Amino acid sequence: MKTQVAIIGGGPSGLLLAQLLLRHGIDSVVLERKTKKYVLGRIRAGVLEQGLVRLMEEAGCAERLHAEGHVHDGTLIAYGDEMFRIDFTALTGTPVIVYGQTELTRDLYAAREAAGGSIEFEVEDVAIHGADTDAPHVTYRKDGSDHRLDCDFVAGCDGFHGISRQTIPLDVRREYEKVYPFGWLGILSETPPVNEELIYANSPRGFALCSMRNENLSRYYIQCSLSDKPEDWTDDAFWQELERRIPADQAARLVTGPSIEKSIAPLRSFVTEPMRWGRLFLCGDAAHIVPPTGAKGLNTAASDVHYLNSGLRAFYETGATDGIDSYSARALARVWKAERFSWWFSSLMHRYPDQSDFDLKIQVADLDFLRTNEAAHKAMAENYVGLPY
Ligand code: APR
Ligand code: PHB
Repeated sequence: MKTQVAIIGGGPSGLLLAQLLLRHGIDSVVLERKTKKYVLGRIRAGVLEQGLVRLMEEAGCAERLHAEGHVHDGTLIAYGDEMFRIDFTALTGTPVIVYGQTELTRDLYAAREAAGGSIEFEVEDVAIHGADTDAPHVTYRKDGSDHRLDCDFVAGCDGFHGISRQTIPLDVRREYEKVYPFGWLGILSETPPVNEELIYANSPRGFALCSMRNENLSRYYIQCSLSDKPEDWTDDAFWQELERRIPADQAARLVTGPSIEKSIAPLRSFVTEPMRWGRLFLCGDAAHIVPPTGAKGLNTAASDVHYLNSGLRAFYETGATDGIDSYSARALARVWKAERFSWWFSSLMHRYPDQSDFDLKIQVADLDFLRTNEAAHKAMAENYVGLPY
């Protein structure tokens, strides 16, 4: 089989890239190791920057997003007896849209299928060959048979646990990592959100986040120990802990109910450099991971896809290679700003096991400064709504 771009991974990065390429007449094949049902069963963050919204519009996949997504002009930050608001739209002219990543992925699948685009599900043993040559190819097994996909380029969109990053030789790759000493216990409940906007809370008992998917589907998180397991937490225990970590007036209006999903995610900052090796390009979680505090995972995958799509379009339309040659540097410049913001916001909002009394005083001073300083509000808003591509 032959294609122009072999895309490994049928998550948001791979699907968005495939759809954008297709819209510009560039052929691709998506290789996904799981089933479509499995991919759509993943519960992930749901805050979209305008840059991602524009890409979904360019991909022709933004209709439901605009119909069902919720425009958020700001967010709430709580600590001690304080709760204050960052007004994104007043400070930057830009809101964010709350729309589940699962729904965005569903929209991309629907567009791919409607366009007759090729997606190979349940592939196994994917391997990239000749990435450092002008004629790479990918091999994989499916339904017990071996397959070969010849291509011009390979897009590694296979996430943190994929094989694409591992294809880049160790003497070429440089990796940067910070592992956080806690996790996030998250639940999904068919209850009305506690507030119209998200609430990020720093409490003496740890971080909490009140989010949502729609007017009757709420998403809540509490910071938890890395030794915790979801089954260690009954729904009642979760709700009681959440109520102790958010402001009393918000806790008083919290509507609780049975969890329909409960999971624990570890937190990590991670970047691999470079994001290109020969004709292999890494996108999204394959190249970088952020703690979810700043909701930057999907949105940074989006800017990777934007840069790569632009570079590949230029190559196929004019033969120019400056777009693909500058891809890694351009993507990493924005990735590191998202890494910084995600690390900073995580440091501001969580309680760390090794925090000294001095550290705690500094954290409160940081929160006081953010609450009372207009420049700090603007910096927070600029980063949260998304820095320019
Ligand atoms: N072969 C084929 N497919 C693979 C392989 C492999 N060897 N390894 C992983 N995959 C698939 C996974 O099953 C998954 O569907 O690649 C896809 C990668 O998707 P994501 O992990 O969602 O990564 P990405 O598409 O970059 O999206 C980033 O997802 O994880 C969140 O927080 C992250 O919001 C961010 C977004
Ligand atoms: C979510 O709704 O899942 C969500 C929102 C904002 C975040 C992280 C997760 O920062």
